[in-house]
Amino acid sequence: SDVARTDLLGLAPVVPVVVVESVDQAVPVARALVAGGLPVIELTLRTPVALDAIRAIASEVPEIAVGAGTVTTPDLAKAAHDAGASFLVSPGATPRLMDAMLDTGLPFLPGTATVSEVLAVLEYGVTQMKFFPAEASGGTAYLSSLPTVVPTARFCPTGGIRPATAADYLALPNVGCVGGTWITPKAALDSGDWDTVTRLASEAAALR
Ligand code: 3PG
Repeated sequence: SDVARTDLLGLAPVVPVVVVESVDQAVPVARALVAGGLPVIELTLRTPVALDAIRAIASEVPEIAVGAGTVTTPDLAKAAHDAGASFLVSPGATPRLMDAMLDTGLPFLPGTATVSEVLAVLEYGVTQMKFFPAEASGGTAYLSSLPTVVPTARFCPTGGIRPATAADYLALPNVGCVGGTWITPKAALDSGDWDTVTRLASEAAALR
């Protein structure tokens, strides 16, 4: 499918990582991100409504690429696929989780934080990956050290990145995009302040 060929790191400079507490937030937040110029959303599977939120966005906001984040088990990979997710993101990668994500046929970003984890993912022929938790794992200094030893690996760093530090990551040759929750603050989602989400999205979209 087209989705299987998606260059996940090239969809937008910033992938909004979103935690929804209510399924009613899903479609409005997706529309607010599109309005701000970010046609991608990573819905984290951390709340009971997350799969329903993915289902709603996939059917009602076709112009956004809706992915599932926090995919930590093979069952969640399959459930996200069945809910209509167009990509998967995991915070780490075990062999069984890699197999399950590959089995969905969806593009995905497996989580890595060490050279050995990067090498393990590369053994599957997967070169696009998440670097998590980015700030706690060494941030831009760590990522700068990687091209000499793993030149084919390209990253979406996520975890602790903020507007003030995102550009430093995006300037690295092995970084395609960054992820973060700052574009969709809980207070804005809870109060339905979609204008704030659109403003934060447009600032993020302008980062590259
Ligand atoms: C993730 O799942 O990628 C992280 O929770 C991102 O979180 P942060 O942007 O709030 O650090």
